[in-house]
Amino acid sequence: MERTFVMIKPDAVQRKLIGKIVQRLERKGLKLVGAKLMTVPQSLAETHYGEHKERPFYNDLIAFITSAPVFAMVVEGEDAVNVSRHLIGATNPTEAAVGTIRGDLGLTVGRNVVHGSDSVESAEREIALWFDEAELSTYALPEDVWVYE
Ligand SMILES: Nc1ncnc2c1ncn2[C@@H]1O[C@H](COP(=O)(O)OP(=O)(O)OP(=O)(O)O)[C@@H](O)[C@H]1O
Ligand SMILES: [Mg+2]
Repeated sequence: MERTFVMIKPDAVQRKLIGKIVQRLERKGLKLVGAKLMTVPQSLAETHYGEHKERPFYNDLIAFITSAPVFAMVVEGEDAVNVSRHLIGATNPTEAAVGTIRGDLGLTVGRNVVHGSDSVESAEREIALWFDEAELSTYALPEDVWVYE
């Protein structure tokens, strides 16, 4: 079973979209195994988005992500990284398919509602960065037998 890191960004928290976004992940069959509302420390934001350090939008991105609370999550399920990226949609909400989180709930790339790890390696790195092991729960759900063969 795969795990990935998904973060509801400050824009969506302020727009009171946490419940709607969590519902989209849950209704797909993904299982929440960790979640917390938090204001992101500068150092965590810089480490998380380290790969974008040289990009022109980097400073705005760090300022935005630290500007108000985010809702950080670890979700688990079959092919969770790919599945959650598909649910989230393309980086630019104007190009994200209708039916995706960004396609339905966002309008601009700098306010694109949610983050999801882009590979299994990124997911492992980001989960370790954002969560302590004790904050993650392994548990069974009765409906698991109806989600998986
Ligand atoms: N051209 C851009 N202008 C402004 N912001 C951008 C631009 N490209 C990316 N960003 C911001 O930086 C974030 C990280 O970009 P990345 O290329 O990793 O896209 P992503 O993997 O789809 O998004 P995320 O990592 O947040 O899930 C984007 O989600 C977006 O908020
Ligand atoms: Mg990314």
